[in-house]
Amino acid sequence: MPTPHISAPDGAFAPDILLPGDPRRATRIAETFLDDAELVTEVRGILGYTGTYQGRPMSVMATGMGMPSATIYTTELIRHYGVKRLVRVGTVGGIHMDLQLGDVVAASSAHTDSAMTAQRLPGVHYSHAPSFTLLRAAADHADETGAPLRVGPVLTSDAFYQPDETLVPRLAAYGTLAVEMEAAGLYAVAAAEGVEALMVGTVSDHVVKGEFLEADERERTFAAMVSVALGALTR
Ligand code: HPA
Repeated sequence: MPTPHISAPDGAFAPDILLPGDPRRATRIAETFLDDAELVTEVRGILGYTGTYQGRPMSVMATGMGMPSATIYTTELIRHYGVKRLVRVGTVGGIHMDLQLGDVVAASSAHTDSAMTAQRLPGVHYSHAPSFTLLRAAADHADETGAPLRVGPVLTSDAFYQPDETLVPRLAAYGTLAVEMEAAGLYAVAAAEGVEALMVGTVSDHVVKGEFLEADERERTFAAMVSVALGALTR
């Protein structure tokens, strides 16, 4: 049944889904990685496709940017379409000095400056964590394929432009690898709904070093990261 934000028939999505932020990325992933991919929803330009990957049903759908948008789509996918394993495939800004552009980060936890998930369990500083099964599968896949995977905490921020310039260095001093805008919300929704989630992201820019990838490198490293995500889902 259609939802307020997804117009697709029952059964239109596979239990496994990749979640980029950008709708054009959803199209590119469907065209590049999936077989027999069909467009199943396009409400507000948020494109979703279902096809197969190595013979298994697989979906890909955009989430837009930030936790408010991502949690709308993930909640509806889980509750109305029976999606069970969600892997966000995004870009992240590196903040740890050890990180290189093009590295792939898997978020083993997500700090947040947002009030969004605090509303769920008042009085608790909730730990936003992924599915260990998916995280281990991603790490095992990267070990076997030589993908440059880094596992560690990220900051999920409501702000792309940080008003407090001291926040990023302080978090890096606590071992935080990167900043992005969706993982904590995804992890909280998945936990609350009893399903599995993981965020992997390619380091498209380094916030502290002031470096960023050119468009063609960005695409190449993004594809490498999608391979890690698909590898994790198909182990
Ligand atoms: N901040 C937040 N999200 C991001 C960034 C960033 O610097 N780079 C890629 N996604």
